[in-house]
Amino acid sequence: MSERGDSMLEQLRSSWDSNADLWIRAVRTASIPSREAGTDQAILQAIQDERPGSIIDVGCGEGCLVRKLKGSLGAEVVGVDGSAQLIRAARQADPAGQYFVRSYDRLSELSIGACKQFNVAICNFSLLDDQLAAHIAAIRQLLSGDGKIIIQTLHPCSATAGSPYRDGWRYESFSAVGEAGWQPMPWYFRTLGSWMTDIQSTGMRVIRTVEPVSNDAARLLSIIFVCQSE
Ligand SMILES: C[S@@+](CC[C@H](N)C(=O)[O-])C[C@H]1O[C@@H](n2cnc3c(N)ncnc32)[C@H](O)[C@@H]1O
Repeated sequence: MSERGDSMLEQLRSSWDSNADLWIRAVRTASIPSREAGTDQAILQAIQDERPGSIIDVGCGEGCLVRKLKGSLGAEVVGVDGSAQLIRAARQADPAGQYFVRSYDRLSELSIGACKQFNVAICNFSLLDDQLAAHIAAIRQLLSGDGKIIIQTLHPCSATAGSPYRDGWRYESFSAVGEAGWQPMPWYFRTLGSWMTDIQSTGMRVIRTVEPVSNDAARLLSIIFVCQSE
C-alpha cells in the first residue's frame, strides 16, 4: 500500500476514536438526516427480506442495527467494529449481546460461540477505505455457502459533491449532523463500476440492488448491494 493510503487508513481509524461520543449521540438522538429519510428503513427491509437466522454486522458502530435486528427478527446477531469505544457503548446498551473489537483485516481471528457461519453479513456505511476487495474476501469466509453480504453505502451517483466522478479519497465533515467538534473522516469514493468490479473480483456477485430515495424521489439516499458467492 502507498504511504498516502497508509496515512488515510490511520486517519480513518483515529477519526472513529475522536468522533465516538458525537457519533453515539447523533445515532441515538436520530440526528442523521439521511437515516431518518429512509436509509435505516431500507437496510432493515433488505435484511428482513433474506429471513436470516444468523447475522454478523461488520462495522456495527455503537450497535443500533444489531439491537433493532435482535428485536424485530429474533435472529442471532453479532457485532464487530474496530473502535473500542463504540463497542463499549454497544455492550452497555445490550449487555447480553455479542460484540467484538476487530479491524476487518483481523476478522479471521474471530472465534464466536460455536464458530458458526452466518447467513448474512451486513456492512451499513462501514466499508469506507480503499481495501474493499480484501474486506469482502475476509467477510465471505464468515458466511455459509449460500450466505449473503448486504452493503449499504453512499450512492456513487449522488456523492460526488462537485468532485470528479472517479475513485479516490475524500473527506467527510459531518456537517449534515449539525453538532460542532467532529474530526473530518477520510473515506474512499468509488464509482458504480468500481464497486461492481471489486465485488466480482472476490468471487461474489451482486444479485440485487436497492436505491432508496427521499420521499419526493428527488434525491438518491444510498445504494444497497446484496451479494452472493458465484
Ligand atoms: C459510519 S459508521 C457506521 C456504523 C454502523 N454500521 C451504523 O450503521 O450505525 C462506520 C463504522 O465502521 C467502522 N470501521 C470502518 N473501517 C473499519 C475497519 N477497517 N475495521 C473495523 N471497523 C471499521 C468504524 O469504526 C465505524 O464504527
